Amino acid sequence: MALIIRELKKSLGGKPVLQGVDLEVRNGETLVILGQSGCGKTVLLKHIIGLMKPDEGEIWVDGKDITKLSFKELIKVRRQFGMVFQASALLDSMTVAENIGLSLRRRGRLSKEEIRRRVSEALEMVGLKGWENALPAELSGGMRKRVGLARAVVTRPRFLLYDEPTAGLDPVMARSIDRLIVHLKEHMSSTSIIVTHDIVSAFSVCDRIAFLHDGTIRFLGYPEEVRHSEDPVLREFFSGGLVLWGEDGALR
Ligand SMILES: Nc1ncnc2c1ncn2[C@@H]1O[C@H](COP(=O)(O)OP(=O)(O)OP(=O)(O)O)[C@@H](O)[C@H]1O
Ligand SMILES: [Mg+2]
Repeated sequence: MALIIRELKKSLGGKPVLQGVDLEVRNGETLVILGQSGCGKTVLLKHIIGLMKPDEGEIWVDGKDITKLSFKELIKVRRQFGMVFQASALLDSMTVAENIGLSLRRRGRLSKEEIRRRVSEALEMVGLKGWENALPAELSGGMRKRVGLARAVVTRPRFLLYDEPTAGLDPVMARSIDRLIVHLKEHMSSTSIIVTHDIVSAFSVCDRIAFLHDGTIRFLGYPEEVRHSEDPVLREFFSGGLVLWGEDGALR
């Protein structure tokens, strides 16, 4: 297992958000976490990269419970994670290349030339070759997402976490981001966790799907199992996304 979450609990503003999340993520898989808006998907991701501490529970990476690490130890573990944020979170005053290279510069181990090469390679991977000197303000929403992806992969992380990678994009751009996620997975052999409420996207990129509902993982399985699930809550969520059931009772 690449990552193991046990009995994770977190209340925010006096309200229970995570109420005992159990989840095991396998090495190299792409796990999609689906759930309604406000159910706690972003909160769960923030726990996985150590930006939030749980009230109770454990998160195991490489034999270490990262919820118990000191800040210094946590920084080391966090270097294994690349994160694509819900809002692209680019720094407006920096060029595309400076944004993407920021984490490499901070680590201070690579020469300027090597960083330049790695940034160009990451830009090429996301289909934005030659955009090094543009400013974020000059880019469309879809292009900013791509730069966010390039920034996450440039460190060649073991884990790639995506928060709503297709939100706010038109369907054509959303599907092209989906293809990019699959492409990056094939080239980097990372373990990916993708949080979304885009059902089409979920089915096209996932190995397995987890469904977060009422603060726990209500379902975890392969797309085929989602299609044949008889859980009314799961079926309602998917029919809200206009996925239809056939006469045999399975999702189409
Ligand atoms: N820092 C915070 N302080 C107080 N409440 C918070 C905080 N962060 C999140 N919450 C609450 O926790 C709940 C879950 O929020 P979260 O952002 O994880 O939802 P989400 O599943 O990512 O939703 P969406 O799909 O809309 O992004 C919400 O009710 C939210 O108001
Ligand atoms: Mg969210």
